[in-house]
Amino acid sequence: MSADTTPRPGRFITLEGGEGAGKSTQARLLAERLRSLGHECVVTREPGGSPVAEALREVILSGVAAPLGPSAETVLFTAARIVHMAQTIMPALARGAFVVCDRFTDSTRVYQGALGKVDPKLIEAMEEIAVRDRGPDLTLMLDLPAKTGLARAAARRADGAVDRFEAEGLAYHEGLRSAFLAIARAEPGRCRVVDAAQGPEEVAASIWAAVEDRLGPIAQKAATS
Ligand code: TYD
Repeated sequence: MSADTTPRPGRFITLEGGEGAGKSTQARLLAERLRSLGHECVVTREPGGSPVAEALREVILSGVAAPLGPSAETVLFTAARIVHMAQTIMPALARGAFVVCDRFTDSTRVYQGALGKVDPKLIEAMEEIAVRDRGPDLTLMLDLPAKTGLARAAARRADGAVDRFEAEGLAYHEGLRSAFLAIARAEPGRCRVVDAAQGPEEVAASIWAAVEDRLGPIAQKAATS
């Protein structure tokens, strides 16, 4: 499969942001709206999104690979992304579907790059290998104060364990926020910042406005038979 020669009828939207920003809820709401207009929409996530990538997710988020250091983690996230692209994202885009992905390359740039201090050359090379020229058409940066996000994440997993990134302190999460905002400033054509401190309905409305602003009005799809 060559990403370079594949036609691009589908639309690729990613959601990024710190912990507790509501990305998965918003991915679901966006998909529901697109489907209600007759569009196929594949909702997926990283790390994960295909059987092999989900297996890698277990390894990465359990923390067993953490002692290997952030560069090795970058390679693992990239391995998961390569199979996710090949097995899930590219086939959906080739069918003309919308793909809505909860986290993607900006998370690697932020968590492993900006915060993990992995060499930018490695981050860039890994991104090139996994994505080639088929990056997101639109990235929604769900932005909210780190304190609010952490409180939401804690409430959500009342009974569950924290993953190794959630377990970091407030300064770390403020750092994540600044790094995501820096990407949005550097790539205003692709990225839109959304105020995620609003209620879910308001956030969904802001997201829909950003989607139509970037991709053009999304009309009801004519029924085909
Ligand atoms: P997840 O439970 O999906 O967290 P969230 O609900 O915050 O999205 O766990 C994903 C974790 O993996 C999250 O803490 C961010 C981290 N991550 C990276 O460090 N690098 C990456 O490239 C990706 C995709 C995720």
